[in-house]
Amino acid sequence: MVQSKASQPEEVIGSSYDQNKFELLALSENSNLSKTQETCHAETIIVGGGVIGCAIAFELASRGREVLLVEQSEIASGASCAAAGMLAADSEDFAHPLMAKAAHESRELLHKHKEQISALTGMDLGLRRNGFITPFRSYGDLSKYKDRRNTTSGVQQLWWDRSTVQRKALWLNRDTYGAYYRSLESEALPVSLTRAYARSAEMMGARILEGVQDVRLIVDKHGVQGIMTARGEVCCRHIIIAAGLQGEQLMHQVGGTLPSSPVKGEMLAVRFLTDQAGGRPDRTVYAEDVYIVPKANGEVWIGATSLPGRKDHSVSANSVQRLLGAASYWVPGIKEADFVRAWAGIRPSTPDGLPYIGKYEQIPGLYTAYGHFRNGILLSAITGRWIADMLEGKSAEEIGIEALSPDRMNRREVML
Ligand code: FAD
Ligand code: GLY
Repeated sequence: MVQSKASQPEEVIGSSYDQNKFELLALSENSNLSKTQETCHAETIIVGGGVIGCAIAFELASRGREVLLVEQSEIASGASCAAAGMLAADSEDFAHPLMAKAAHESRELLHKHKEQISALTGMDLGLRRNGFITPFRSYGDLSKYKDRRNTTSGVQQLWWDRSTVQRKALWLNRDTYGAYYRSLESEALPVSLTRAYARSAEMMGARILEGVQDVRLIVDKHGVQGIMTARGEVCCRHIIIAAGLQGEQLMHQVGGTLPSSPVKGEMLAVRFLTDQAGGRPDRTVYAEDVYIVPKANGEVWIGATSLPGRKDHSVSANSVQRLLGAASYWVPGIKEADFVRAWAGIRPSTPDGLPYIGKYEQIPGLYTAYGHFRNGILLSAITGRWIADMLEGKSAEEIGIEALSPDRMNRREVML
């Protein structure tokens, strides 16, 4: 069964996010809240309820800040519901050393958040540290991989030769030449994680509102004033644009040019039958042509294609065939597994491969946090921490993230 972006049924573990329960700010059609009214004020408004917006809400709320998050659709309905949920700090290849370092910090921070979230809400993120295996067919493939790779510093890995692979991963192709084993790598259920961030933020006082359409940013010569929506107006001191691929359009409203382009990814899920002893992988396989991720909900997820410029959510038969072919080479037992579903999502990429995270200097009070491309789930925790630090007065220089500043694009036409 092929499913569209918003309907990937991840089987959230624990209690799910329930808008009826958590709607704390009811803006009616008639309400036209002015910034002089105390009730409509939020210190900080986050636009976008994907993993990034929800992680920021979580971090701000845990520091006692007043937060309102507005989402045009549902929490975790964009790219965050399509992700594989890998926290691949050692396995992804980061073009910039800052991102490699951030990825490691964020993976560990997510494990800490898991404890906090579970104590607060009882929700389970499906977050596990099962380790990743990057296998090679031959010595030649291994050499090419080493030559190509940018990320080397801080990577924790062991080399497994053929006999070690055969001993430790019974379910992996017996012809495997050797593999890197990265024991600290982790993965989570991305929708569970995003919803758990939202729920925890609410339990710490954040307000979260879904179905808020037509958000218009209100800025004047003094900076951010608030937002206007189809359901009313709310004034605030800070706005954080965490709208993923649609961040670019929101920035256009205020004359900012921070481009983000789509890179579609297709994935599929299979389920192993109980009698397939030794066939089901118990760790993620992060190969060069495919990844195979055993999930806490019992499924095994296989991904992903990478189609620049594509925004549609269709899944082609050719992609399914290619992914299944590559996956069943590495894990032959997949040929016997049940096909469950396939889906597609759109990664938000940027021209230089770095997300826009930080203060938009031309408009006081405006911050961006989008463009996380392949690693938004992984980088969610550190993004939340960085944004919260900045709202508390730390500069990008102090935090060490000048390279991510939205001002690097420096192509703004002011429209105040
Ligand atoms: P989104 O999840 O897209 O959220 C943005 C939200 O903003 C949406 O809910 C949207 O409705 C809302 N919004 C937009 N405009 C407005 C508006 N005007 N008003 C109000 N709300 C608005 N990352 C990893 O770390 N690990 C992985 O294993 C991984 N695998 C992936 C596999 C695939 C196939 C894909 C497609 C992506 C994968 N990613 C992975 C990348 C990850 O999914 C993204 O980087 C991440 O989800 C981006 O999160 P976000 O919150 O910025 O965007
Ligand atoms: N990070 C995995 C992907 O984007 O496909």
